[in-house]
Amino acid sequence: LASVPVVIPSPKDAEIKKDFPLDHYSSSSMIKFATNPFMFKVNYINRDWIDSATGAKAILGKAFHYAMEVYYGGIDDYAITSEAEAIEFGLKGGMEFIENYNDGFVNYSDKIPNKQKLYDLFSFLFTEYVKYKPYQKDTVVATEKTIKKIISVEWKGENLTFPVPIKGVIDKIIRRKDGKISIVDYKSCEKFSDLEKIDAKKIIQAVNYFFLVYAEYGEAPYSLVFEEVKFTKNRDAEEKQIKEYELVYADNPLFFDFYFRFYGDITGALNGKMVYVPNFDAFYDNELALISYIHRLDISEEQAKLFKKHNVDNITDLLKKEIQVAGNMRQLLKNIENSLVEAKNIDYTKMKNEEKIQTKMMEHGMLIKFDSKIEGASVDLYRYTPSIGLKMSRLKSYADDIQQVLGVGDVRVIAPIPNTSYVGFEVPKEKRKFPDLPKNKGFDIAIGQDIMGNTRFFDVRHAPHIVVAGSTGSGKSHWLNNTLKQLFTIKNSSFYLLDPKKVELSQFEGMKNVTYRDEPVEIENSLCDLVSIMDQRYTKMKEMKVKNISETDLAYIFVVIDEFGDINSKEIQELIRKLAQKGRACGIHLILATQRASTKIINGDIKVNFPVRVVFRMAKRIDSQVMLDEDGAEKLLGKGDMLFLADNGIERLQGFN
Ligand SMILES: Nc1ncnc2c1ncn2[C@@H]1O[C@H](COP(=O)(O)OP(=O)(O)OP(=O)(O)O)[C@@H](O)[C@H]1O
Ligand SMILES: [Mg+2]
Repeated sequence: LASVPVVIPSPKDAEIKKDFPLDHYSSSSMIKFATNPFMFKVNYINRDWIDSATGAKAILGKAFHYAMEVYYGGIDDYAITSEAEAIEFGLKGGMEFIENYNDGFVNYSDKIPNKQKLYDLFSFLFTEYVKYKPYQKDTVVATEKTIKKIISVEWKGENLTFPVPIKGVIDKIIRRKDGKISIVDYKSCEKFSDLEKIDAKKIIQAVNYFFLVYAEYGEAPYSLVFEEVKFTKNRDAEEKQIKEYELVYADNPLFFDFYFRFYGDITGALNGKMVYVPNFDAFYDNELALISYIHRLDISEEQAKLFKKHNVDNITDLLKKEIQVAGNMRQLLKNIENSLVEAKNIDYTKMKNEEKIQTKMMEHGMLIKFDSKIEGASVDLYRYTPSIGLKMSRLKSYADDIQQVLGVGDVRVIAPIPNTSYVGFEVPKEKRKFPDLPKNKGFDIAIGQDIMGNTRFFDVRHAPHIVVAGSTGSGKSHWLNNTLKQLFTIKNSSFYLLDPKKVELSQFEGMKNVTYRDEPVEIENSLCDLVSIMDQRYTKMKEMKVKNISETDLAYIFVVIDEFGDINSKEIQELIRKLAQKGRACGIHLILATQRASTKIINGDIKVNFPVRVVFRMAKRIDSQVMLDEDGAEKLLGKGDMLFLADNGIERLQGFN
């Protein structure tokens, strides 16, 4: 005996019964018959559809189906050429599907209160799906396939010819490696199906699809695979969001038995017979119900026949016999649940860095498209275009995951790259290059080299003052030396080099135009002197009726303090504040360096008066926040790697050797 029915498409003796009240049979109409007979009559017999709002969950499901259609089938005339494109198009397709849905026709709920939530859930569903499922486009026979056929079926010696066609839209039909056909049905859901429960709706759907695919392709499909994707996020991140289970037709003859009985009841009812059908929503969690229904134990003549056949006199004994025959009912839904996470860890080893980053972000439900890689001296910058709806703050929170997948530390996520629509990932190079110090162009001094290899010049006259920060060994003194070397070339200039640490600046002691001090008292005196000089200059400029130093022949004075945190007395703070507020206009510029990014050192006065900042590697994220109002300096590499804050915003530069 065949374990599955034989389906004969367009049988010779079949003709569509014109007087039959239904236009066709479909899973949805058959299920409606059992769940809501009144609406069954309105929809399928009267053929009236009441335009009502669609539940947000249903729209989510539709968007997902549409995305899948695009993912495997392309759009319009455009054939998708790669998986990346399929993902991109699928995601965008689903987003647009939601976007185009008139808000007035959406029934929002507590869980999905607005469109943004729909976007979030959809992209989550979609990315979870594409993340876990291999693309395997080559196995796809058809997607979103509508089949409508008049058929006849042979099963257990019975022959059934449908009076009207049966119809269905099948999500996906695939050709398995062994050559057999499988049907795939996607379901977006709030929670996975309970496989212990018998789901009559799934049985009806499975059998209808079996008939349709068989009729269309001339061969019996092997199985129906349900792919459930859950849009509620697992609390446990290790748990899967997608579950797959397969119903192998040949293992489940009861499906067909059930279908035949149910079909018979509907058709009987349409022919005016009184029938009793189970309530699909409430009844089918128990196997006895299925057996009883299949064996027509609700019909007394059938019951009597079976009693006689099995030589029993009550239903319980009869069921025992039948269940023995049917085998373990739990087998009905044969679960071949894939252990996806365990079995399908994404293999990053063969990927290039750009792919690793992209794939990793996708794992977290974020789609970014690789644009370009720019190789800098100390870091490489990977630039990407983010997908619609991607939150920058969310992207930034995944720096650690990128580090993990790249196997490096200190990846800085730039979201967005200032003045562009890109997002960027700065990845430390294995071998850094330390560029040589170029010549300054007068007041335009070389600060560092940017990612493109260009020297970033900066006119020191434009900065009222500069603050330099970084943890020990990060490159402050080195940078001060480089800067001084350049400033020394400016003719009309003089210098106050104040070095409470007594190490770095002493090398310049004794030079012409250089005042070097390293004792705290002397330093304070120098600052007092500078305040007097400043006042004298203001008086002189007033007499000359000029507003700016450039209109005079006065020398520029550069005041450099290496580690001003060491001399942070009230008095000194006050002197620095005075100089900072008024120094610039009369040609006095301060450059202060410190290891300490505490708000005591970098106080409000400093923040206001030192808008230009050279920030080397800082110990903590919070230090970066103090210096730049942004994270990032904690990701720098040391040895001259800096974030330079000036009029262009924050730029990453490598200091010169
Ligand atoms: N631009 C650079 N190119 C190459 N090496 C550098 C650069 N900047 C710093 N270094 C290396 O890092 C070391 C420490 O730098 P530097 O003395 O400037 O640190 P610092 O920030 O002043 O530290 P501290 O706060 O302890 O004084 C230098 O001796 C040098 O070897
Ligand atoms: Mg130093």
